[in-house]
Amino acid sequence: MIITALDYPNAKTALEFVDKVDPTLTRLKVGKELFTCAGPGLVEQLQTKGFDVFLDLKFHDIPNTVAGALRVAASMGVWMVNVHASGGPRMLEAARAAVPLAGENGGTRLIAVTVLTSMDDTELKRIGVEHNAQEQVNALASLTVEQGLDGVVCSPMEVVQIRSLAPANFLTVTPGIRPASANVNNDDQRRVMTPADAVKAGSNYLVIGRAITQSSNPIDALQNIIEQISS
Ligand code: C5P
Repeated sequence: MIITALDYPNAKTALEFVDKVDPTLTRLKVGKELFTCAGPGLVEQLQTKGFDVFLDLKFHDIPNTVAGALRVAASMGVWMVNVHASGGPRMLEAARAAVPLAGENGGTRLIAVTVLTSMDDTELKRIGVEHNAQEQVNALASLTVEQGLDGVVCSPMEVVQIRSLAPANFLTVTPGIRPASANVNNDDQRRVMTPADAVKAGSNYLVIGRAITQSSNPIDALQNIIEQISS
């Protein structure tokens, strides 16, 4: 249920962490920084080591371009990929057509980012969105449900609301996770919750980056979070 965000600048530093961790403890997220540096070769390496990989490239482009990129991602056999729901209904439809529904025996899950967890109401207004974050998340989550995607990326603060408008098997994947001890005013995330509260709210997968990767002992940090959740 934990997805560690491998926000490392290159394959070497990412693998220093990965080589100490067991695939039963965490799935791995490869995002824009690491993928731009290390590409599909690293994704394949992680999969060979037994990890489920979430390829977090948040595609947002015209429908044809997004569909093409997703077909390549799905052919890599990644466990999860994503797009921005704000790409609109036709883009989401093309995305769904490009990534066949995952079955019991695996396949790629396709999810959509609602509103980035770094955004707050003030910043949404600055880009012309009059809805507050919660309203905008609900609108984009409803669109994602309508287009048959497997789930959304949202803040843990929005999970309960999303559950009320989506089918029971709809996935909620939540970044914006900060251990109780973290100073939340100190970084870019805004709509945050602790790991235990996010699980209580019903989040299916917690995406955790800096709280693990920038800790002096990332493996201990991961294990601590797992303990916090299970107690
Ligand atoms: O370090 P931190 O735990 O904030 O990392 C969160 C991770 O989740 C980053 O890799 C970021 O790109 C990703 N993410 C996010 N908000 C979203 C989607 C993904 O923070 N809406």
